[in-house]
Amino acid sequence: MLAQHTLASNRFEHVPLAVFASSREASCIVAGEMAELVRARQREGRPVVLGLATGSTPVSVYAELVRLHREEGLSFANVITFNLDEYCGIRPDHPEDFHHFMRVHLFDHVDIPAAAIHLPDGNVPKAAVDAHCREYEEMIRAAGGIDFQILGIGRTGHIGFNEPGSARRSRTRLVTLDPVTRRDAAGFFGGEEHTPRYAITMGISTILEARRIVLMGWGQHKAAILREAIEGEITSQVTASFLQECEHVHFVLDQVAADALTRYRSPWLAGALEDQGLAWDEHMTRRAILWLSRKRKKPILKLTDDDYNESGLQDLLRVYGSAYDANLAGFYHMQHTITGWPGGRDPARTKPGDAPVRPLRAPSANVFPKRVLVLSPHPDDDVISMGGTLCRLVEHGHEVHVAYQVSGATAVSDESLWRALLFVRDAGLADPAEIKRVRDLCAAYEENGALPASPELMRWKALVRRHEAIAAASVCGLPADRLHFLDMPFYYGASVRRRQLGETDVKIMHQLLGELRPHLIFAAGDLDDPHGTHRLCLHALRDALARAKKESWFNEAELWLYRGAWAGWELDEIDLAVPLSPQEVLRRRRAIFRHETQKDQALFPGEDSREFWRRTEDRSRQLAESYNALGLAEYEAIEAFKRYSTGEFLNYGRI
Ligand code: F6R
Repeated sequence: MLAQHTLASNRFEHVPLAVFASSREASCIVAGEMAELVRARQREGRPVVLGLATGSTPVSVYAELVRLHREEGLSFANVITFNLDEYCGIRPDHPEDFHHFMRVHLFDHVDIPAAAIHLPDGNVPKAAVDAHCREYEEMIRAAGGIDFQILGIGRTGHIGFNEPGSARRSRTRLVTLDPVTRRDAAGFFGGEEHTPRYAITMGISTILEARRIVLMGWGQHKAAILREAIEGEITSQVTASFLQECEHVHFVLDQVAADALTRYRSPWLAGALEDQGLAWDEHMTRRAILWLSRKRKKPILKLTDDDYNESGLQDLLRVYGSAYDANLAGFYHMQHTITGWPGGRDPARTKPGDAPVRPLRAPSANVFPKRVLVLSPHPDDDVISMGGTLCRLVEHGHEVHVAYQVSGATAVSDESLWRALLFVRDAGLADPAEIKRVRDLCAAYEENGALPASPELMRWKALVRRHEAIAAASVCGLPADRLHFLDMPFYYGASVRRRQLGETDVKIMHQLLGELRPHLIFAAGDLDDPHGTHRLCLHALRDALARAKKESWFNEAELWLYRGAWAGWELDEIDLAVPLSPQEVLRRRRAIFRHETQKDQALFPGEDSREFWRRTEDRSRQLAESYNALGLAEYEAIEAFKRYSTGEFLNYGRI
């Protein structure tokens, strides 16, 4: 049960908290607690009222409840449910309609009586909405109130759809969705223009009246807002912070979602490390020194004993004896992450006195040239996140391959494809039957403003992206025969939320690894992309590596994770920093420009409406500034990577 997993409280956190290695494990515990309550009420012959949420967060909780029903006889005959919210004005059979979502994930698989299920109706006429909301509240009251409410959290900090600004006293009502929330949902609706603007949601007061509340948060993209909700002040700007007022609330996070909390980011502030089962190992030391340098706004080598003492790092000073020695350790560590030779140097051209091939470490560190495999989840992540490094690797003479893991077809708007089709139609390039099909498609677009969804359409869109990728790689000096379009099938899964890796996906990855036997593998460690594609691509690599672990190349290979499109690395996570010159930044920009259809991604209003080239330039310049502020050399921009040995990566993201 959750109580057993609750962490000892500290002065930063204002709610009870449990953190699990994976969301799957956490979901099983939450589902277990719900099941326990359902059974206890059955023994007493009483009903139980569950408050339910939709979205990605509770999917594994529902999967576990269904399993408990099927395999362990858990009955839902005494269960009454109230969902938090519903979008307004979408088709009832749309996969994102919450009635539909709940049937697919839970209701259709358990023995809950239909009459016990309640969700707001998003299609009531506008004039009747207020009365409908009052009725919903009345039904909750009549059922005896909610016994157990589960919640997710939006990146705006919302619970239900109580967006920033919602009042503490709010109750069930019609709301306008925040642009950030709409942007997060847009991929599930096929673009912003099809994403609902309004929803009906339980209010903050309605939610807080539940007798037990569990808020779950999974994934890197939730870490920052969870920190605000848990450690920040109570404010209507982050409505999840209102939960701090409750006695009976629990926050349940997976490790990556918890990473921004003080207990993990700067644990020395939360108490003696020993008491937290931690030690001043190399990583912790580096993290503390970087933190101190930023906090005191001083380069590392100028930090004094007083800086350490006054900032709560007396203990680190004790370990090192003096600021001087601690500073040197931190400084050299960061210095040694920097190299302009990401694949190592050509021994034939290395003179005595040249810098060593740091930070490469694997047995193949001195092999030259290397076989390098860059894995790019979508056809543009390679150039967006490591375009400068890619150019260098090619220029240094390595055998560089890029594999695009999914086709990226869903991110091509109908409008972009239509323009490509117009070209084919008007140029009359294909055979007459094909031309007719293209004509029909163009006519369909002109009539409806959208193309009819079909596998054929996906193929066309994939082709558009393939040619953009070929053009971009060519800017980096890479010929088309070094590019591999894997088109992994998981990408076409039934609904975006339910994508899962299958045997074919892993097989495709494994086969490529076996063919190339790479010395260096670069893969996207940027798991903040909206639909979780990067995470699945990384898991495919992990599972394929597990199959390859007896192959001769396996232990010689080194794995580097890159970030850039959606997030960057924290300074203390960086093992390899490749500096770029102003010319290299421009060349990378030119490569990113080749992905013309992806400009649409910047059209959403919201927190990040910069095009990808801007995001990556801003990030890599800021990183260079951060290095400089630490007292290291001043570069135009830096691309950064985190190292894994192939062996240690086999456990990545597992329970
Ligand atoms: C869903 C709901 C929302 C979601 C939140 C997180 O019923 O009310 O508050 O819980 O938007 O969404 P996911 O889980 O998709 O990240």
